[in-house]
Amino acid sequence: MSLVTYNVQDGVAVIAVDNPPVNALSPGVPEGLEAALDRAAGDAGVKALVVMGAGRTFIAGADIAVLQDMAWGKGPGGPVLHDLLQKLEDSAKPVVMAIHGTALGGGLEVAIAGHYRVALASAQLGQPEVNLGIIPGAEGTQRLPRLAGIEKAINMCVSGKPIAASEALAAGLIDKVIEGDLTAGAIAFAQRAPLAAKTHERNGRLGTVAENAPLFAAGLALAAKLRPSQEAPRRAVEAIEAAATLPFEEGCRRERQIFAECVVSDQAKSLIHAFFAERAAAKIPGIGKPSASAIARVAIIGAGTMGGGIAMACANAGLSVLLKETKAEALDAGLATIRRNYETSVKRGRFTAQDVEQRLALIHPQLDYASFDSADVIIEAVFESMALKKQIFSEIDAIARPGCILASNTSTLSIDEIASVTARPSSVIGMHFFSPANVMRLLEIVRGRATSPEIIATAMALAKHLKKVGVLAGNCPGFIGNRMFFPYMYETQFLVEDGATPKQVDAALTGFGMAMGMFAVDDMAGIDVAWRVRQEMGHFREPGVRKPLVQDQLYAMGRYGQKTGKGWYTYGEDRKPVSDPLVEELIATSARTAGIARRAIGDQEIVERSVYALINEGARVLEEGFALRASDIDVVYLNGYGFPGWRGGPMFYADLTGLKKILETIERFRRELGPRWEPAPLLLKLAAEGHGFRDYDREREA
Ligand code: 3HC
Ligand code: NAI
Repeated sequence: MSLVTYNVQDGVAVIAVDNPPVNALSPGVPEGLEAALDRAAGDAGVKALVVMGAGRTFIAGADIAVLQDMAWGKGPGGPVLHDLLQKLEDSAKPVVMAIHGTALGGGLEVAIAGHYRVALASAQLGQPEVNLGIIPGAEGTQRLPRLAGIEKAINMCVSGKPIAASEALAAGLIDKVIEGDLTAGAIAFAQRAPLAAKTHERNGRLGTVAENAPLFAAGLALAAKLRPSQEAPRRAVEAIEAAATLPFEEGCRRERQIFAECVVSDQAKSLIHAFFAERAAAKIPGIGKPSASAIARVAIIGAGTMGGGIAMACANAGLSVLLKETKAEALDAGLATIRRNYETSVKRGRFTAQDVEQRLALIHPQLDYASFDSADVIIEAVFESMALKKQIFSEIDAIARPGCILASNTSTLSIDEIASVTARPSSVIGMHFFSPANVMRLLEIVRGRATSPEIIATAMALAKHLKKVGVLAGNCPGFIGNRMFFPYMYETQFLVEDGATPKQVDAALTGFGMAMGMFAVDDMAGIDVAWRVRQEMGHFREPGVRKPLVQDQLYAMGRYGQKTGKGWYTYGEDRKPVSDPLVEELIATSARTAGIARRAIGDQEIVERSVYALINEGARVLEEGFALRASDIDVVYLNGYGFPGWRGGPMFYADLTGLKKILETIERFRRELGPRWEPAPLLLKLAAEGHGFRDYDREREA
């Protein structure tokens, strides 16, 4: 099948890229486009050209699989688009780009080499390369400022966020928004269009050095704010600066050089890994293609923190929601929180007041199970108590329609035990949302022993419909994310007992790139919540394991964290954590009483003990089959636990660091810190073979 089609309609050559699913510029596409341009040039019956995308979109960019090969120094090299772009600009007949869906990355770079651009109102245009740790590599940093101005170009390349057609029109990036049929509209436009100046010759918006200086300074500040530790956004500003100061060809050379440096960086490798990891997580062997259309009505039990957030996530996706509580006061409080959260979104410009009313109208509060028999999925989000959950599941088993998904939002409890009280364990599944559930992208889908493939497929489809990343986890205590979180959390507590301070640990972790430090997280999630989970999961009951000394004392003191204004830190009006000498004294005294010889602890030790604790447990989760792939673990940590995308997730970070080095350090910890540092068997095996977790994934995939 040809990747580029060619048809002539009413004197206009309609050239369409046809490379499903997203018309990426894979090998063959640029060549196909060039051949079509040559054909149109020599076709006497053609007076103008329309370039578009077949199927659901324009061109979504360079082929990221090719970029991944480049990152690892494999394959024939990157997308060489220079000849194509020049041919587009040099066309003696006007070229109109007709955009629907998305024109992203290399797709937008192709579009801006044409003489004109028209787009459907629903189209999105962007330079999202920074999401992959790279800069635009097909002259986008040189042409975009010429069309849209320096400031817009900086914003688009640094933020990576696409803009809508209306914004693109206002910025001068497109020439017309087409209503109705895009092909017909673009042909009509092309028939009337005179040959326009080549984009690279339009220098009118490039500005002077004096005008641009504050724009570049603001661009660097934006890069530092949005993506503090990342190279690519800063380098994109540098490339745009070249557009403003160098002749076009020289600017292009500078861009190519920066692109080539970025694409082989660890940050690019990590972010490209994260892109494919997220998509791989949706593919589950033995589970058919899911359909979300099966879900129209969701019923939720519990309108607390999680139930309320899940109700918002569902209403945002247009689903009808039944929201049940036990008492009117709890229901009213839950609804008030939902309304307040929506009002904040209106204030921040995310929704209009009308959007909010529409969403609220989808949420039906109630104190009984009325209409629950019409629900396609019932999600339980009551307190984390096995007895209570069992009671609820026996109640819903009696009323849910056959085929209804019976889901629990438990973060730690056994799905099999919950399912055991129903007559239909094959319909029971874990749907573990993260707080705040209307914001966080991760949704762990927990498969019980009996959960049917259809129920898993529909739950995964529901995740996608809610715009979340569903990751399948097995039913072990804590599933993937929280099972790994506990050794990580406890290790940070041992670090402060050994001599660090909470502030120092948190600073080292955020310095590594974590969104928050562990003690700030514990204070936010609630020291009381963590205490209850410990009781329920029976942590530290076995003899001989090192038990953290301070968390139970904070709990007993009523220092529950942010909610009480005091926890590991104290909090003022601004909710910023402030070190508390009382806590530091409590830690020091408790440690000394337990005979711990406190010492100065460096940031490297903090990061290694924290992150390697995650990796070691992750290796166990993987080998025991509770995660399908190492990359699934990465997706969990990137989307649910604030692990930095530019480090690719804990397992990918381990691969980049080298499993041999990690194992050596863990073995040293085992000698110096005790048996909790026993290396995971899979880590031992892979390190001995000289392999990484990626090789393990690849082998199992094959
Ligand atoms: N290259 C290769 N594969 C791509 C791709 C790309 N640019 N974009 C999407 N895909 C693949 C996905 O891997 C997925 O494959 P799968 O079905 O085997 O899992 C499939 O297309 C569908 O993708 P999504 O599941 O993401 O589909 P959505 O409809 O949810 O989203 C999208 C579509 C908005 C286009 C989204 O895929 C996306 O954002 N893609 C990345 C776009 C991008 O970053 N482009 C810039 C690339 S870098 C570049 O162009 C460099 C240049 O400057 C030289
Ligand atoms: P919460 O205490 O805020 O809310 C629980 C709600 O359930 C309360 O409003 C309570 O009145 C209600 N409830 C109790 N019994 C009920 C019944 N029989 N019918 C209807 N409503 C009933 O608790 P939260 O934090 O929302 O947690 C709920 C579940 O979600 C727990 O299993 C928890 O482990 C899990 N979870 C919590 C996360 C968090 O960060 N808070 C994150 C992920 C999961």
